[in-house]
Amino acid sequence: MCGIVGYIGKKDACEILIKGLRRLEYRGYDSSGIALHNGRKINSTKSTGKIVNLEEKLTEKNSVGTLGIAHTRWATHGKPTEVNSHPHSAGDITLVHNGIIENYQKLKEDLIKKGHSFLSDTDSEVIAHLIQEENIKFDFERSVQSAIKKVKGAYALAIIHKEHPDKLIVVRNSSPLVIGVGNNEFVIASDASAIIAYTNKVVYLDDGELAIITPTDYVVKTISNKLQKKQEQQLEWNDEQAKKEGYEHFMLKEIHDQPHAIQDAIRGRIDMENGMAILGGLTSVDKRLRSINRVIIISCGTSYFSGLVGEYMIEEYAGIPTEVEYASEFRYRKPLLDKNTVVIAISQSGETADTLAAIKEAKNKGALTLGVVNVVGSSIARETDAGIYNHAGPEVSVASTKAFTSQLTILTLIAVYLGRQRDMSMIMGRRILSELQKVPFLVSKILENEEKIKKIAYKYAKFENFFYLGRKYNYPIACEGALKIKEIAYIHAEGYPSGEMKHGPIALIDKHFPSVILAPKDSVYEKTLSAIEEIRAREGKVVIITTKDVTELHSDKYDIIYIPKTLEILMPIITAIPLQLLAYYVGTKRGHDVDQPKNLAKSVTVE
Ligand code: F6R
Repeated sequence: MCGIVGYIGKKDACEILIKGLRRLEYRGYDSSGIALHNGRKINSTKSTGKIVNLEEKLTEKNSVGTLGIAHTRWATHGKPTEVNSHPHSAGDITLVHNGIIENYQKLKEDLIKKGHSFLSDTDSEVIAHLIQEENIKFDFERSVQSAIKKVKGAYALAIIHKEHPDKLIVVRNSSPLVIGVGNNEFVIASDASAIIAYTNKVVYLDDGELAIITPTDYVVKTISNKLQKKQEQQLEWNDEQAKKEGYEHFMLKEIHDQPHAIQDAIRGRIDMENGMAILGGLTSVDKRLRSINRVIIISCGTSYFSGLVGEYMIEEYAGIPTEVEYASEFRYRKPLLDKNTVVIAISQSGETADTLAAIKEAKNKGALTLGVVNVVGSSIARETDAGIYNHAGPEVSVASTKAFTSQLTILTLIAVYLGRQRDMSMIMGRRILSELQKVPFLVSKILENEEKIKKIAYKYAKFENFFYLGRKYNYPIACEGALKIKEIAYIHAEGYPSGEMKHGPIALIDKHFPSVILAPKDSVYEKTLSAIEEIRAREGKVVIITTKDVTELHSDKYDIIYIPKTLEILMPIITAIPLQLLAYYVGTKRGHDVDQPKNLAKSVTVE
């Protein structure tokens, strides 16, 4: 997730843009850049690393201008190098971009045929060339509209033109963009945190809209040139609240980010016609993947639990024997691997020391290694033979939420990819992929039910022990739910397969020991009902997470959270959401700092 900021007005744009970049730093960054129009030409300056590195490169000569755009990059396409940093230019056009362009490869090929040459590996540079190409026929505004019509994907763009020192054009589709309306000046940014110091009057662009901004005025239109009437809003946020987009904590914001994060994990990766996942990061090892006969998933913590779901998915849909192992154990065992084994490392940060060491061990033994990693260019991304990025954007809160559901999404794509290389029918591939496309919407439906979940969380916040129970695909989610409440609320909780209760743990159940049970109507639903009955018979209190089509469970007996229905393989993405909210609200009710729980670190780079 990148951050963009732009300024047009009478003041020194450079200072405002640098301050804006600093406020967007929390969105993650590996490089940054700025472009300023000095009235005659555009000067661009870029740097890798921290924003201070960029500042050091700014001189009296290249920092002049009252119109400018700037960018903090969190790499998605191409390594975090200076050449890949924004702004990107082509002819008269210079722009910054936040988002992912799905069809950039095809657009790039077409532009190369027309004589364009590219400096970077990014999808963003392609848009600059596309606008420049259209600019041969049209004026600035129409060339942006015409170019954007050809682009598929997510984008928030801020664009300037060498011949237009008094014009800033911004465009939005599926990536956030806010226009701050000042007194004869405008500040645009990815979120209000970069704007709030100058004005609290804002306009939010909707998907498919662009704004043409001059120092004194702005007009909003659709890509098809239809004028739009926009409502200006008054923000009452302070700086800190603005970073969290008004949410009280990053954890809550990131829980709410999930419909977008899942969408970004899917974007450009579905070939519906062939019922196949498009995983560009695996192209180089595609042939080898066809001959592997064993999968080992290695990871830690929350990423370990997504791996467990991956095991069920890959075995059921690709028919390949799969094991999941804690990376910290794997590295010290004598794992039996060969060239027909693929080891998949899952890691949000890409820096977890145990996972990194386990990959090295796997490589030494001749296995093929893949990474499912959120941070581009991280050690695990570099160490593995090939891989897939999550594109979930930075997770600021220590406890993982959106990275987890994003991992589950990628694992679904991997299961389809490996399955279609083997026996999975095209119909089955299509079925899973088309249901996966609906998941972001289903997740947003659960988030609408937040108040009900909060009420239940407050009711249970006094208990000191919990069981989290699930079966089949939902057993790993029960484990993840238990981990979340441990981390955030400092409550002892255990995740168990619901069928195991009768083999011992049920001895602990009484009215002081509640259970959270995942019981969607699926192939193991009837079995889960028996576990619920056994617990109730021992006076155990029960919170049930289930789908609306069940008839056997009633709210006079249990606290019930209803969730939408989907395919069994996709249900973990759905059931994870209420468990995250439960942990969040129990944690906040108990007065904890949920974003930085005690004793925990975001990136565990030591053994
Ligand atoms: C829990 C959590 C940790 C991480 C674990 C692995 O909320 O965030 O359990 O999942 O430390 O980290 P990554 O995924 O970065 O390898």
